[in-house]
Amino acid sequence: MLSIINISKSFKQRGLVLDNLCLEVENGETIAIMGPSGSGKTTLMNIIGSLDKPDTGEILFKGVTISNFSEDESADYRNLNIGFVFQEHLLLPYLTVSENIHLPLLASTHSQDELSLREKYLNELMKKTGIYDLKDKYPFRISGGESQRVSLVRALTNKPSILLADEPTGSLDAKNAENLGELLLDMNREFGITIILATHSSDLAKKMLKILHLEEGKLSV
Ligand SMILES: Nc1ncnc2c1ncn2[C@@H]1O[C@H](COP(=O)(O)OP(=O)(O)OP(=O)(O)O)[C@@H](O)[C@H]1O
Ligand SMILES: [Mg+2]
Repeated sequence: MLSIINISKSFKQRGLVLDNLCLEVENGETIAIMGPSGSGKTTLMNIIGSLDKPDTGEILFKGVTISNFSEDESADYRNLNIGFVFQEHLLLPYLTVSENIHLPLLASTHSQDELSLREKYLNELMKKTGIYDLKDKYPFRISGGESQRVSLVRALTNKPSILLADEPTGSLDAKNAENLGELLLDMNREFGITIILATHSSDLAKKMLKILHLEEGKLSV
């Protein structure tokens, strides 16, 4: 589904971060990317999510080259195909849980029928992740673990084919981290969503089918 072919990326002060890196991702796979701080995990995730571009190399998504997309094309690609979960949940403080979760729907137009299907899907997801009863609360009234589950549901609102999770359990205690890891797997099993996650936690990484190590700009098993 995703082919990353010989991509390199460097930053001025830092020099080469990704060095001719290659990765093939199959539909429905679960991949953990581990590696020291500063090794380029976030940089790689940003490039896969088309938030950033490689200096050289090519990225194909379902056979289409996305690495030379314009800003608008990149935004469409993200809205249609990618869900993001970050270490910090980034919920908008002046919107309720439910409003935060519905926000991604505004990025595209949907028929009335599709909107009611989405409504059912989101209610189901909120119940499955145990946040349904929080839907009318504002983010400052819910816990960190709950916020992270809200951001997971929000990442799934547009039914992405790839979920990119950058250190998603970094701000959670052990129990909440375990819980979020299991939810990620549930989403993979139930919706076939492909998961690529960057983490320092070997417990979380072990839940994924494949563990890759990023070091000196390259990925290895
Ligand atoms: N926009 C940027 N401008 C300049 N340097 C950057 C930029 N983004 C990342 N870097 C540098 O690139 C390197 C890789 O950063 P990156 O955030 O990808 O690492 P990481 O593996 O995600 O680290 P961590 O585990 O701490 O999250 C670092 O040395 C960082 O300082
Ligand atoms: Mg990072």
